[in-house]
Amino acid sequence: MSARIAVLISGEGRNLQALIEACAAQRIDGEIVLVLSNRAQARGLLRAQQAGIATATLAHRDYASREDFDAAMLRVLAEARPDFVVLAGFMRILTPAFIRAYAGRLLNIHPSLLPRHPGLNTHQAVIDAGETEHGATVHFVTEELDGGPRIIQGQFKRRIEDDAEALAERVMQEVELKIYPQAVAWMARGELTMADDGRVSLRGKMLGEPLSLTDLETEFR
Ligand code: GRF
Repeated sequence: MSARIAVLISGEGRNLQALIEACAAQRIDGEIVLVLSNRAQARGLLRAQQAGIATATLAHRDYASREDFDAAMLRVLAEARPDFVVLAGFMRILTPAFIRAYAGRLLNIHPSLLPRHPGLNTHQAVIDAGETEHGATVHFVTEELDGGPRIIQGQFKRRIEDDAEALAERVMQEVELKIYPQAVAWMARGELTMADDGRVSLRGKMLGEPLSLTDLETEFR
């Protein structure tokens, strides 16, 4: 049975687009049943509408508190009955109540090699730290910001001429658009699980380290 997927966005929606295309191509055995944005101008909403996907906008500024905003999102999501929820450039910090409601059923993608550089401005942080590798990470969301169990990471070598903007583009094209559809495909097939103690398993096998882009080319597709 095809999985019901909800996607939360705030902006451009390139990751969302990759997920839409992977569902259409049946690489993901699932259907995006709702795209929810906290910003009415998010370009990702147009991408969803063009694909005939239901959208909703809840402006966080209309709510007195983070708790109220998240409670409203939970109500909208409940109507869509998703099997799991995917954060794709959703720029709000979620409350513990929201995260608990979708424990083990909530994925995020973060543009750094976590645990390095949680939070914002990761590309500049990599440059400032003089690091030679950069990438992105898909992880389960827990109450620790950008700290949940990692599923898959893709990385590349930084070129000396790469500024923050160039790095952002490379992270998106070379890593994010490859690893997120794959992780969502595993979720949709019920192959990816997070135990109560945070241990991640794929097809019943516990992952010691997050998977890599190389793994994708070999046995784990
Ligand atoms: C991505 O870099 C993602 O990792 C980060 O926000 C960006 C979203 O881009 N959380 P898009 O909306 O998918 O185009």
